[in-house]
Amino acid sequence: MTKVFNNNILQGKVAFVTGGGTGITGGVARAFAEHGAKLAITSRKQENLDAMKAAVEGFGGECFTVAADVRDYEAVERAIAATVEHFGKIDIVVNGAAGNFLCQAEELSANGFGTVVDIDTKGTFNVSRAAFEELKRSRGQIINISATLHYLATPMQIHVSAAKAGVDAITRNLSVEWGRHGIRVNGIAPGPIEDTEGMKRLLMPELREKMMRKIPVGRFGRIEDIENAALFLASDAATYVNGVTLVVDGGSWLLGTSLT
Ligand code: HXC
Repeated sequence: MTKVFNNNILQGKVAFVTGGGTGITGGVARAFAEHGAKLAITSRKQENLDAMKAAVEGFGGECFTVAADVRDYEAVERAIAATVEHFGKIDIVVNGAAGNFLCQAEELSANGFGTVVDIDTKGTFNVSRAAFEELKRSRGQIINISATLHYLATPMQIHVSAAKAGVDAITRNLSVEWGRHGIRVNGIAPGPIEDTEGMKRLLMPELREKMMRKIPVGRFGRIEDIENAALFLASDAATYVNGVTLVVDGGSWLLGTSLT
């Protein structure tokens, strides 16, 4: 990652990151640790967490891991409590755990739709709700990882579009309800990010060319673009930023860039 922020901008902070083992949110988690935060990461799969813990400890950071499914409120409560027991507090929550697959609406089962809504939307609420008392104590903040799929319409993504629209609603509502407790709530909506497992799987070469022509800045996004947006929001440079979902997509949603 090309570092544009000072190494210590998150010194003394504790960040709790869901889906923090892999992908975009894994990058955000690692970047937070590289900038001084103590890291707690959670994911359904312990093996995803072990690799990130080793990476963070490799550069001298601190990383606490706790396996939990964000759909399970009691498991989330236990993960939050274990983090507070370990680090003493939580300053930043990143809701990054997400589910995704391509499926036409007429082939999607009710359970398939509900599964993604449960992970993305209900999971975001569950973690935010369970962390509320701690964030109130620390006058902390929440960053919700969203998408741009639902700004227009994205075929084969009805479940994710509905789920992320719900995430954006949660961002706005909580920013208003919890602002008075000193808790800022913002989101990040990544556009097409090429160095993710999901995008590698979804992007056939001909689709890649088609999409590239529709990205105004002329390149796909990289995970570090999202890391830098998250560092800005988490830092003291953004103490008056609340209720915003920051689009980081090179301007592509304005041209209707879609996966299909
Ligand atoms: C159709 C599918 C499906 C598929 C699962 N289902 N995969 N339907 N096509 N490819 C259906 C199942 O048939 C089932 O419904 C229901 O979904 C639940 O499936 P399970 O496998 O039992 O669920 P679970 O083990 O909980 O896994 C959920 C999952 C998850 C969503 C499939 O494994 C997952 O998301 N994996 C990928 C994680 C990922 O890529 N995360 C990054 C997200 S990126 P029935 O009716 O059969 O019971 C992102 C950014 C968005 O979100 C923007 C992108 C551009």
